[in-house]
Amino acid sequence: MVWERKHIEFIYFDEIDYKPLEAKGLPPGLELKILSIDESDGALSGLLRIPPGWQADLDFTFTTPEHLFILQGDLTINGKTLTEQFYSYHPKGASHGNMYSQNGCEAIVMWDAKFSVNINEKGSDEGIIVKDTINMNWEPTIAEGPQAGIMVKMLRFVPDTGEMTFLVGILPNWKETRQRHHACVEESFKIFGDMNLNTNLGDKLLMGERSYFYRPPWIKHGPLYTRKGTMSLVRTSSWLENRYMPLEEDEEYLKFLKEKSPNN
Ligand SMILES: [Fe+2]
Repeated sequence: MVWERKHIEFIYFDEIDYKPLEAKGLPPGLELKILSIDESDGALSGLLRIPPGWQADLDFTFTTPEHLFILQGDLTINGKTLTEQFYSYHPKGASHGNMYSQNGCEAIVMWDAKFSVNINEKGSDEGIIVKDTINMNWEPTIAEGPQAGIMVKMLRFVPDTGEMTFLVGILPNWKETRQRHHACVEESFKIFGDMNLNTNLGDKLLMGERSYFYRPPWIKHGPLYTRKGTMSLVRTSSWLENRYMPLEEDEEYLKFLKEKSPNN
């Protein structure tokens, strides 16, 4: 499932190798590295690499909703060219006609179900989001509580569930001395800068560029500190609320524990 994967805290993109992506019906050359996956339904987050000159000059759709964030290069889907730091969202069954990359491309990819291709299916343009994030304005942070110095570019918000996909930018020398937790899943791709997480989960505490975590609810993190400042692509399973109280004082957490208990 999208939101029931195991905790990963954290890995660098380049610790994982690219492997050929099986995309039946499309030209060869696509490569995928998986950063986190739920094997039961194939939902995954990772990186997609497309070689220069790759082209699929036909209509097709994917069997999964897809988020893309271009790290480098270019990718044209259905006449729309995405370049560095473009974000796109294609719902399941959305049109992917005539997809090509002139200079090659590396992109963050999130697929919410098992990936496969429906060749010669025209698909729909409904619900497709394309955002040139470099040219978006930063907005004040949506989540209350943290120290000033955090700004957000909202890329996708689902009112029914509160699910959010956004860029978060944080100023150099930003510091948060408190520990926080959330009731939602938080996954994050660090694109620029650094963040000291202090999750006390090992000795790899300083998260640098091209790294990723998938954090289930109720994991305390902090104190937090960034030296150079940072920008990350973040997705959450519901509205992101920062909670600073001890876990045992969070009523929702206690309810969660009770529901999980075998004696319940
Ligand atoms: Fe967090």
